[in-house]
Amino acid sequence: MAMKRDLLSVTDLAVGEVQEIFRLAKTLKGRRGPEAPQPLLGQTIALLFQHPSLRTKASFDVAVHELGAHPLYMGNDEVKMGTRESPADVARVLSRYVQGVVARLRSHAELQAFADAATVPVVNALTDGEHPCQALADLLTLDEHSGGLAGRHLVYIGDADNNVATSLLLLAPRLGVQVTIVCPAAYAPSGEVLAHAKRLGGAPVVVEHDPQRVNLAGADAIYTDVWVSMGQDAETAARKAALMPYQVNAALLQRAPERCIVLHCLPAKRGQEITDAVLDGPQSAVFDQAENRLHVQKALLQWLLAGR
Ligand code: CP
Repeated sequence: MAMKRDLLSVTDLAVGEVQEIFRLAKTLKGRRGPEAPQPLLGQTIALLFQHPSLRTKASFDVAVHELGAHPLYMGNDEVKMGTRESPADVARVLSRYVQGVVARLRSHAELQAFADAATVPVVNALTDGEHPCQALADLLTLDEHSGGLAGRHLVYIGDADNNVATSLLLLAPRLGVQVTIVCPAAYAPSGEVLAHAKRLGGAPVVVEHDPQRVNLAGADAIYTDVWVSMGQDAETAARKAALMPYQVNAALLQRAPERCIVLHCLPAKRGQEITDAVLDGPQSAVFDQAENRLHVQKALLQWLLAGR
């Protein structure tokens, strides 16, 4: 019997596997509706969420449904993982009922404990450490808009010490994308994440701190994310003050070529990390990016659960 595969980190996938998932996602995107194949017919996939969600919950629910399986959603109010029952015991029980688990957990360590005990594949739907499905959708979007990933230049601006930036840093360079991070020193990726990205290979990640001086002439994508993530409410004032010079606005975008797309994982705080004019402007690809969560997650689930 083949060993079960999890997706807890983007590093769980080899480059060739990501490329295979992207190819499948593009195929599935053009093949929806009642005639589409249902490779997971008869299966049940648990969706276990400790945090609120729009995109992740909806896109996984639809993905599971379109693949022919049943999505079993459970919020934390009912499961109370960690207080009512340990992550390992929840994993052992769910593994007796379902063929796969998609989990949005507060702690990456808890997700690891959960996955270690589960006997079915586990997919990370966001933890404090990583957001791998987001990074897959982001890079699929860049691939589609730019006609390939090799040699593209992605500039990430703002708070770069978060789960979304970490997954991008650990995936994009391996796919041939040059990454520049523009952030205040206090919100830079950790040395551990940068060292990990370096060990994985690809073009070295460049970290810059001056948003006025960074060269955007070769940018294919400008990416930003909220400045205050879940659980950081007490730091709101300090974060806004430090990050306001890093806002993605019309003046900044003018320094990039017309081909450059704007990405944001959403939800956005309009008027903070990004302005309405940019988010709703012609270079914005954020709603294509949100849509691609569905296609890439369908491909991932099919790849994990219907045989590779
Ligand atoms: N980008 C993202 O994960 O959105 P949700 O928090 O709404 O799922």
